[in-house]
Amino acid sequence: MCMPQSVRKAVIPAAGLGTRFLPITSAVPKPLLPVIDRPLIHYAVAELAAAGIHDIAMVLSPGFEAVAGYFEPNQTLMGALEERGDEERLAQLKAINDMAEITVIEQTEARGLGHAILMARNFIGDEPFAVLLPDDLIWSAAPAIAQLLGVSEEHGGSVLAAKRVAREAIPSLGIIDADPMGNDVHRVRGLIEKPSIEEAPSDLAIIGRYILTPGVFDRIEHGPAGALGEIQVTDAIAAAIGVEPVHACEFEGDHIDAGTPPGLFAANVYEERRRAMAS
Ligand code: G1P
Repeated sequence: MCMPQSVRKAVIPAAGLGTRFLPITSAVPKPLLPVIDRPLIHYAVAELAAAGIHDIAMVLSPGFEAVAGYFEPNQTLMGALEERGDEERLAQLKAINDMAEITVIEQTEARGLGHAILMARNFIGDEPFAVLLPDDLIWSAAPAIAQLLGVSEEHGGSVLAAKRVAREAIPSLGIIDADPMGNDVHRVRGLIEKPSIEEAPSDLAIIGRYILTPGVFDRIEHGPAGALGEIQVTDAIAAAIGVEPVHACEFEGDHIDAGTPPGLFAANVYEERRRAMAS
């Protein structure tokens, strides 16, 4: 895949109590909930790796070590598979270990998505980077994050993934006010986090994929708290409009929000059918 060298790093914000999935999340971190035989976090890292991004920071709640542990070699298991001569499963596990270089950042307080991203400031340094929210699963021919990278190559600045949503979904999402430029790219004029249906400027919503510039960190740090009293990355990106290019990309692909039990169920059904059709 052709990839601009300028984006080498990504942040996966994956802290949060997972209250919608209680009681299971009292013992299993939400990023480890399965879609068939792989946890949500696997799909997130695999999408980044497929787009050529292998240097990844995960922002995790304390006690979530198992989320990063999934990508570490399990010597006992691998030894047992070697003894049995199960080369196929061994290769599958090794491929997971080799997918990315993972850095864990602990988020001790839950203060919103903007705050989670700000925790990765030292890891990112002074270069553009990708953000991927693991609840948002996207199946597509070209990885959704790679589609955003294409837009950032062409226009520079920040790029958000976008999708038209049903009216009732609007109050739980970031909503985009934008001018279409053709080729499913929009020039962003404004962003509003979790508006009421009446306030919303459109039905074009932010989906959890971003290319951000390092300037976002100062904007997160100095911006006021936003929707739900949390530090919202949407507000920090909105503050960049007029200062640097901000575009939205209506990506090609099928998206499911697996951040609720019915959504996770739908993702399992989708993936099972996809695998059945591929085999
Ligand atoms: C976050 C963003 C929101 C975006 C959504 C996509 O919201 O703040 O702008 O539309 O992800 O999943 P959250 O799901 O964390 O409430």
